[in-house]
Amino acid sequence: MLNEDVMSDVPIAAPAALRPDVTHGYELTLVIPTFKEEPNIRPLVAKLDAALKGVRWEVIFVDDDSSDGTADTIRAVAQDDPRVRVLQRIGRRGLSSACIEGVLASSSEFVAVMDADLQHDEAILPAMLEQVRSGAADISVGTRYAGGGSVGEWDESRAKMSRLATWLSHKVTGVELSDPMSGFFLLRRDAFNAVVRDLSGLGFKILLDILASNKGTMRVGEQPYQFRFRVAGESKLDTQALWDFFLLLVDKRFGKYVPARFVSFAMIGGAGVVVHFAVVTALFQGMGRNFALSQAIATTVAMVFNYTLNNVLTYRDRRRKGWGWLVGLFTFVAICSIGGAANVGVANYLFVQETNWVLSALAGILLGAVWNYAVSSVYTWRK
Ligand code: GDD
Ligand code: MN
Repeated sequence: MLNEDVMSDVPIAAPAALRPDVTHGYELTLVIPTFKEEPNIRPLVAKLDAALKGVRWEVIFVDDDSSDGTADTIRAVAQDDPRVRVLQRIGRRGLSSACIEGVLASSSEFVAVMDADLQHDEAILPAMLEQVRSGAADISVGTRYAGGGSVGEWDESRAKMSRLATWLSHKVTGVELSDPMSGFFLLRRDAFNAVVRDLSGLGFKILLDILASNKGTMRVGEQPYQFRFRVAGESKLDTQALWDFFLLLVDKRFGKYVPARFVSFAMIGGAGVVVHFAVVTALFQGMGRNFALSQAIATTVAMVFNYTLNNVLTYRDRRRKGWGWLVGLFTFVAICSIGGAANVGVANYLFVQETNWVLSALAGILLGAVWNYAVSSVYTWRK
C-alpha cells in the first residue's frame, strides 16, 4: 500500500547542490556499432571531439563481443572521458539490431548512427544536426552521391552492386533517396521512436529499415560527403550480407504474412529440391537403382545441403561453428530423419499406389520440409 505522506518525503532526485556539475543532459548521442575495430576507437573519439565543439554529445559504442579487445579499449577511453560508453553484447551479431539497441540506451533529443572505421566524415555532423534541429528535415542522411559526395576508392564492382541495391530498394520501399544504403544518418529521437516497433532489425540496412517503416511521413534531408578509405581492420559486409539485404526487403514487403526466416528456409528448401531431384534422377533414372533407395540417398544429401546453407544464411545470427556445427548437424539429421522417414514412406507409398514418381517425390519433400522447419527452429537453432 502506498502511503502518500511517506512517499512525499522520499527525495526523487539528489538536491541540485549534490549533483555533478552537469546542468543539461546530452543533446546528441552517436551510436556506433563495432565489430573488431580496436585500432579505430581512439582516433575516432579524437575526431568526434574536434568536429563537435559546442555540441553536448556522447557516444555509445555497441560492440558484439569483438575478440580484438575493442570493448576493453572503449572502457579505457571512457575512464578518461565520461561521454564515452560501451554496450557489449554477448552471443549476438548484427549491425541493425546493434544500432537499435544503442539508440534505445540513450536519452538525447538527437541521435546519429555512423561506422567506427573512419570511413564516414564526422566533419558533416554539425551540418546534419543543424538540418534536423532547424526543422528542415526529420532525418539527415550522409550521402556519398549527391553534390560533392563520392564513393572514394571503391572498386567498380562494389559501386555497381551498390547502384543495383539502390535501385532495388527504390522499387520495394518507394523511398526516393540518392543513397538509401547509407549507414550514416542523424534523426530526432521522437521520429525514431515512432517507428521502432516496426523495424525488422535484420541485417545491416538500418536506414532502409527506418525509411521503409515510416511510410513516407519522414522528411529526409541529405548531406554530401567523401567516403573515406578504410585504414585499419576489415569490412564485415560479405556476400552473405547480400542475402540479409534481400531478406530485409522481403520482410518489409511480405513480413505481415510470412516471417522472413521462413522465406529464407523455404528458398533454401527449394534449392534442396533441385539437389534432391538431381540425385534421384541420377540414381533412379540414370543408374536404374531401386526407387526407395534413390529417394533415401537423395533425402540425406539434401538434408546436409540444407543444414549447411541454413546455418550460413537463415540462422546467420545463431550460426553453429566448430564442434557446435557438427552437433547441430546431428540434431538436424536426427530431428529430420523422422521427417525423412515420413518423406520416404509417403513418397514410396504413393509410388507403389502407381502415382507418378515426380508427384510421389514432391509429396514426400513437402511433408519433410514443414516438419524440418518447425522442429529445427526450436531445437537445432535455438535462440
Ligand atoms: N555491433 C556490430 N555487429 N557491429 C558491426 C557488425 C556486427 O555484426 N558488423 C559490422 N559492424 C560495424 C563495423 O565495425 C563498422 O563500424 C560498421 O558496422 C560498418 O561495417 P563495415 O564492415 O565497415 O561495413 P562497410 O564499410 O563494408 O559498409 C558500409 O557501407 C555500406 C554501404 O554499402 C556501412 O556503412 C553499411 O552500413 C553501408 O550499408
Ligand atoms: Mn566500413
